[in-house]
Amino acid sequence: MYTANVSSSFGTLFRVTTFGESHGPAVGAVVDGCPPRIELTQEMIQSELDRRRPGQSNLVSQRKESDTVEILSGVLDGLTLGTPIGLLVRNEDARSRDYDEMREKYRPSHADFAYDQKFGIRAWSGGGRASARETVGRVAAGAIAKQVLKGFGVEVVAWVEKVHHLTASIDPLLVTTEQVEATPVRCPDSESAAQMIAYIEEVRKAGNSVGGVIGCVARGVPAGWGAPIFDKLEADLAKALLSLPACKGFESGDGFAGTNLTGLEHNDEFYADDEKHVYTPTNRSGGIQGGISNGQPITIHAAFKPTATIMHEQHTVTTEHENTTLKGRGRHDPCVLPRAVPIVEAMVALVLVDHAMRQRALS
Ligand SMILES: Cc1cc2nc3c(=O)[nH]c(=O)nc-3n(C[C@H](O)[C@H](O)[C@H](O)COP(=O)(O)O)c2cc1C
Repeated sequence: MYTANVSSSFGTLFRVTTFGESHGPAVGAVVDGCPPRIELTQEMIQSELDRRRPGQSNLVSQRKESDTVEILSGVLDGLTLGTPIGLLVRNEDARSRDYDEMREKYRPSHADFAYDQKFGIRAWSGGGRASARETVGRVAAGAIAKQVLKGFGVEVVAWVEKVHHLTASIDPLLVTTEQVEATPVRCPDSESAAQMIAYIEEVRKAGNSVGGVIGCVARGVPAGWGAPIFDKLEADLAKALLSLPACKGFESGDGFAGTNLTGLEHNDEFYADDEKHVYTPTNRSGGIQGGISNGQPITIHAAFKPTATIMHEQHTVTTEHENTTLKGRGRHDPCVLPRAVPIVEAMVALVLVDHAMRQRALS
């Protein structure tokens, strides 16, 4: 026998482990390394989970989960103890019969085939840990990370920037959570939001799915967080976001669009104000240089593919590798973007809080 190295843990000093299968009894997380005496209540975590929950609107999966979080340890009288924080969310609405056929047939572009190749066994009902249900633990842990970051004056805001061909123009310096939460699609530009909602509805009715792009900003990050070589801030952010289900692309700062510019156009020139505070009027670097924050807002984008499970017959194979076809069944997100917004914020917060702890340990 050998020991499988299939980590479900993330972070170095602020370390999160998630657990649970989509149709198992519960999902959750253990957060180790959270500093003591941080204000933390069940409500603070619940409000983030409510943003991630299925069944919020017609645009998302209709699985009925209250996603009520129980804090099992690490908190006393509304303050963290500095000991491991156990977070549990019970699964309430697993409907295994929707997955009967998927026991024997692999969903195209889902994780079923790859899991079988790796483990020789798979929690076929509900997609196991490949289901976005696993992100419940991340969002719960991310809510704690956000609380810690608040003490550093850091806020993280994500939004839906693009759904298929519909793109909104959002200013990362000004966008607020209230604007993001104003529509069920979580695009802070109301005109674009209305178009996106209509489009996702149309796609859903056709039994199809679409993807898009999420933008995210972290404001208030001081200069000096990050690491110079393998744990560069943008490398850790890329890993954090690409570890999300359905995430297929990551950009830091101007990303790929920056390749259309020359150095003369692209460089962020430094200035010092009257208080000798250094700033750059442009922010094409996305607040990170040499893997370390430079004090400007950290701006990133993440691309999410169209949901794999669709209500159309497509070619696939059985677990015995016979050719067959499969039509998706059950309750699925026609577009994962609206629910991915709080998940992206959680992952960005987890990376930042870990680097905040690492910077504190250095000084
Ligand atoms: C918020 C969110 C909701 C999702 N909902 C579904 C869903 O309802 N049906 C589905 O097939 N995939 C859904 N996914 C994506 C799958 O979990 C993912 O595509 C699958 O695990 C395969 O992984 P990969 O796409 O990263 O390769 C969702 C992803 C996210 C982030």
